[in-house]
Amino acid sequence: MKIKQTLLTLSILSSAFAAQAGEVEVLHWWTAGGEAKSAAVLKQMLEQQGHTWKDFAVAGGGGESAMTVLKTRAVSGNPPSAAQIKGHDIQEWGGLGFLTSLDDVAQQNHWDDILPKMIADVMKWDGEYVAVPVNVHRVNWLWANPAVLKKAGVSVPTTLDEFFAAGDKIKAAGFIPLAHGGQPWQDATLFEAVALEVLGSDDYVKAFVDLDMDVLSGDKMVNVFTQFKKMHDYIDDNSPGRDWNVATSMVINGDAAMQIMGDWAKGEFTAAGKVPGQDYICAPAPGTANQFTYNVDSFAFFELKNAENQKAQKALAKTILSKDFQEVFNLNKGSIPVRLDMDMSKFDSCALASMDTFKKTAKQGGLVPSMAHGMSTTSYAQGAIYDVVTNFFNDKNADPKQAAQQLAKAVKAAM
Ligand code: GAL
Repeated sequence: MKIKQTLLTLSILSSAFAAQAGEVEVLHWWTAGGEAKSAAVLKQMLEQQGHTWKDFAVAGGGGESAMTVLKTRAVSGNPPSAAQIKGHDIQEWGGLGFLTSLDDVAQQNHWDDILPKMIADVMKWDGEYVAVPVNVHRVNWLWANPAVLKKAGVSVPTTLDEFFAAGDKIKAAGFIPLAHGGQPWQDATLFEAVALEVLGSDDYVKAFVDLDMDVLSGDKMVNVFTQFKKMHDYIDDNSPGRDWNVATSMVINGDAAMQIMGDWAKGEFTAAGKVPGQDYICAPAPGTANQFTYNVDSFAFFELKNAENQKAQKALAKTILSKDFQEVFNLNKGSIPVRLDMDMSKFDSCALASMDTFKKTAKQGGLVPSMAHGMSTTSYAQGAIYDVVTNFFNDKNADPKQAAQQLAKAVKAAM
């Protein structure tokens, strides 16, 4: 009798569970070591709730390939449940009518209270949440191998001039000064770090947020290109096409001294079991100590027809902003939690420094959106900037003055 009852209860329970279980197909580009570990956390937490995770990973740092694949899928009427879509792109997808409202989940879980307003606003289309932020990455970081610096007799450079001086010594000591992958988004990441020092925060915003033609074509921008060009002397000949995480591994292995890259690079150091302050150093990109270039990863949610899959979709949205997920995910990813009410005791010194600078710059100024990572302007203007920057960087004879003029022209055509 007792057994029968138990079986009955079990079958009622499991059918209730099955009725709620759905599938989420999630498009992302997190395929490098630290990234994949982070994505796996989300998959696991969703599966623990009885849902199925269909992984839709499209390799390629920065997500250009992922966005191309997403467009094809969406246009053919078969979008995934959620896709890694950021910044201005969220507005573009919202405007096209693809995204679904998450306002019920947002209200139940008080997203307006737990998120910085600046970030919450970007997640909304027409006043309703259509996307969920995952983290805050700081882009203007320099990663260094202390053993290599020591062998070259240099310390961590804090200005561009110091960087070039250190670079010469590192080269003379037989190491590659700067690990870099020659891909347009990596060139743009390096370019914006140089631009931040040379332009300062105000003109950076004028150039890449306001798309101010005078700043884009002006003397300071010419100097940005001049300094950017110098960077090339410190990169090895095998850089074209190299993935960012391969560049990071050159710093980890001691083949190269430094990399200028967002703190997803820290995910690689962490995955390799390295400890900050001991095996590697995180420092602000030269000359940008009091500035913070932010890159907020987020998932946008597509309109679905199947009721069970809609439920799974909402479970995913809720999970992303849970404290448990925010902690484990960001420990692996190298970023800081997007919730500001988190216990940070498990985070390392780089994450604490990032959180500190994020809060400080939000109050005092110096918090700027990343152009290279889709935070500052439309994908059209961003694409135009990428083209000019990459062409310039790959042409030995390119002229900084002409480049600044081309930059303004290309951006204007994309507006
Ligand atoms: C960025 C993304 C990061 C990181 C990086 C390299 O655009 O925001 O999360 O994954 O690309 O793939």
